[in-house]
Amino acid sequence: MHFLFLVFTLVLGTNCQFSSGTQQLIVDIHNSLRSKVATGTYSINDTVKPTCSNMRKISWDSTLATSAQTYANTCPTTHSNSAGIGENLYMRMTTANIGGLDIYGGAAAVAWEQEFQKFGWATNYFDMNLFNTGVGNATQMAWAKTNLIGCGVKNCGKDASGMNRVAVVCHYKPLGNYLDQLVYVSGFTCSQCPTGTSCDQTTGLCIKERPKILNPSSSLQLFLFFFSAIKNTFRLEETMQTLWILSLVCLGAVFANFNEGGKQAIVNAHNNLRSKIAKGQYVAKGTKKETGSNMLKLKWDGSLESSAQGYANTCPTGHSTIPSIGENLYYYWSGSPITNLDQFGGMASAAWESEFQDYGWGSNKFTMSLANTGIGHATQMAWALTDKIGCGIKMCGPDASKGGMNRVAVVCHYKIQGNYLFKTIYNSGATCSACPSGTKCEQSSGLCA
Ligand SMILES: *[C@@H]1O[C@H](CO)[C@@H](O)[C@H](O)[C@H]1NC(C)=O
Ligand SMILES: *[C@@H]1O[C@H](CO)[C@@H](O)[C@H](O)[C@H]1NC(C)=O
Repeated sequence: MHFLFLVFTLVLGTNCQFSSGTQQLIVDIHNSLRSKVATGTYSINDTVKPTCSNMRKISWDSTLATSAQTYANTCPTTHSNSAGIGENLYMRMTTANIGGLDIYGGAAAVAWEQEFQKFGWATNYFDMNLFNTGVGNATQMAWAKTNLIGCGVKNCGKDASGMNRVAVVCHYKPLGNYLDQLVYVSGFTCSQCPTGTSCDQTTGLCIKERPKILNPSSSLQLFLFFFSAIKNTFRLEETMQTLWILSLVCLGAVFANFNEGGKQAIVNAHNNLRSKIAKGQYVAKGTKKETGSNMLKLKWDGSLESSAQGYANTCPTGHSTIPSIGENLYYYWSGSPITNLDQFGGMASAAWESEFQDYGWGSNKFTMSLANTGIGHATQMAWALTDKIGCGIKMCGPDASKGGMNRVAVVCHYKIQGNYLFKTIYNSGATCSACPSGTKCEQSSGLCA
């Protein structure tokens, strides 16, 4: 009986220290950093890291959680020498009484990421010089080839100085921080996803399989709602299940408009799509599109930015009634701390474009039946005669309807407005052969500029 009880306690003690919400939060904070690095939106004091070509998505692993919990139970002060496993440590000393241990999961992950913010991240080449700058926990977090994590936590009671101590241990596989290897390989996002993985368009991370966007029971971390660009009709896609997760970051922070990098990411995402279409290189869900003869190059526009930012500031839940502009909306919910809004411009653009990948692109004539296939944001992105874009972003804070998760709203405004019924999205024909007057062909992109 005693023995059974002991076994039972051990099992509980080794597996149940972090709640499932906190496990998810730890995973989310890791993937948020990894996604930013992958998409070239991770910055340290205004210096942006180059995009990553091979960043894997991390998920929770119960075997690693068990080994991490077992080591946490020893109240360690240094790293274990477990072979073949990456390991991050976090110690919290406090004079306050220690209540629930759950809050230390997110706190640890945030603290590790902060090593980059404090000490910088000068090179992707991992050697003792880089390690000695104090970023060893952060580089393990960002190690591109790592895809599994499990963590444990222990209240270690009072230490010699009378302070209460909590220990958090995370274990990782494959292990990172190999001497003389790269933390990640820079290059186009997802361009070197390892075999057996493919690109998740929303995060820029290499995942085991394509996300099942319409399956609401998939256990990922956030909700994306895509509102159709056609006013008054909207479609709701729940990519992921909701979780009540503690937010660790001050939500009242005031964020301004997109910075230059954020704007450029949006313009580039649009023009990359447009250029591929113009040159006949765009493949929508397996079908190659004809070359485009009249595709204009998009430019950022300050007054569209103002109108979009003005509307984003209202934390909209549906389309505006502003006349004569095209409008794409993107909402993002996350239980993770959201510290950098600039990444969401590129993410929104990628999500809109993925409509063509998910639903195909049957016809160049814009009709209601085409719109109803769910590609209305993507067609506005690709609308040939649209040449101006401006976007705004707003951190809308906790959303009671989503378990208190933080909501971010992105609004892009376009001119001329696209998605006119019965008009062509673009004219097919030799690249640049029908550039509108006042524009000429930019050979490198195949766009009329
Ligand atoms: C970034 O700026 C902060 C505040 O000025 C500073 O404390 C920190 O050390 C800087 N980080 C790097 C990597 O230079
Ligand atoms: C992680 O941080 C802990 C606590 O600051 C430190 O003791 C440990 O050496 C760091 N680990 C790595 C791999 O840098």
